[in-house]
Amino acid sequence: MAGWIELINEINACEGCELCRRRTYAVVGEGNPDAELMFIGEGPGEDEDRLARPFVGASGQLLTAMIEAIGLRRRDVYIANIVKCRPPGNRTPSPQEAEACLGFLRRQVQLVRPEIIVLLGATAAKYTIGQDVRIRRDHGTWSRRAGVDMMPTFHPSALLRDESQKADAWRDFLSVKKRLDEVTNGKYGG
Ligand code: URA
Repeated sequence: MAGWIELINEINACEGCELCRRRTYAVVGEGNPDAELMFIGEGPGEDEDRLARPFVGASGQLLTAMIEAIGLRRRDVYIANIVKCRPPGNRTPSPQEAEACLGFLRRQVQLVRPEIIVLLGATAAKYTIGQDVRIRRDHGTWSRRAGVDMMPTFHPSALLRDESQKADAWRDFLSVKKRLDEVTNGKYGG
């Protein structure tokens, strides 16, 4: 747990941007602290703000179902967000808010040391793999940064709005499972 306790305390006490003023709870992240696979979303919504847990609302239920559909359990992976406090009305976090929070995410990645990171949606992709990522064009494309395989895919809330993207998202998840099987020698039932 070395490092985690300080990080959790710092996130919960953070006043690094305006988002702290309206939060019920900061949402640190959750899951296996030794996960090979990490998911990064945008930021907490209403349910997450109330329960201090990431991806527990409608889009979280879809994410959980997709994780289970590739043969994993939610507790096998680690789930975090770009910003830890809810943007009002679920708006996209501003660049200043994202930058103020990114140090926490970097520390989470250093602590978990995942083999694979899946970026859920444009905001997660923008602040990790680059400003010019477009999800419809670039989803499912692998790149390797600092020894970690990274892939952008659709945010589950986008899939709830537009079901026509689900088949593409499912192919992305199958690609994630294939890569996970390779790096873990089939630990999750390859
Ligand atoms: N959307 C996100 O990006 N993150 C959450 O935790 C919930 C919804």
